[in-house]
Amino acid sequence: MPAEAPAAVEVDVSSVAPGMSLVVQWRGKAVVVRNRTEQEMKDGEAVNLAELKDPIARNANLPADAPATDANRTAPGKQAWIVMVQVCTHSGCIPVGQQGDFGGWLCPCHGSQYDSAGRVRKGPAPENMAVPAFQFISDTKIRIG
Ligand code: FES
Repeated sequence: MPAEAPAAVEVDVSSVAPGMSLVVQWRGKAVVVRNRTEQEMKDGEAVNLAELKDPIARNANLPADAPATDANRTAPGKQAWIVMVQVCTHSGCIPVGQQGDFGGWLCPCHGSQYDSAGRVRKGPAPENMAVPAFQFISDTKIRIG
């Protein structure tokens, strides 16, 4: 019988400076952890929510109907950090970071584009990329799951 994937993973983010990302595996999925730059945060906050294709945060740490504000895509007091399942919500390809017209992610399969908070902005993807259950357990450690 195959070993079960651990339900939670702890990630040391002490070496992830602003503008850097790392990717960890969680339950067989790639999860990107990005420490955003000041500009990426400003860009994310400046977005008019009425323009969003998917107005829901898709953040497992919040109520299911929480709006997709920049803050709701992150963790309380840790707005620089994006922790997100790096899987395109169209057909499951892996978007490439810091590409496209919105300062976020570009999916090479059919051209969906996501902004600096991982919200879908263009293309066939129907939803923002999913934020998994996670929390900071110290200033430099995140537990996902
Ligand atoms: Fe990403 Fe189709 S799988 S755009």
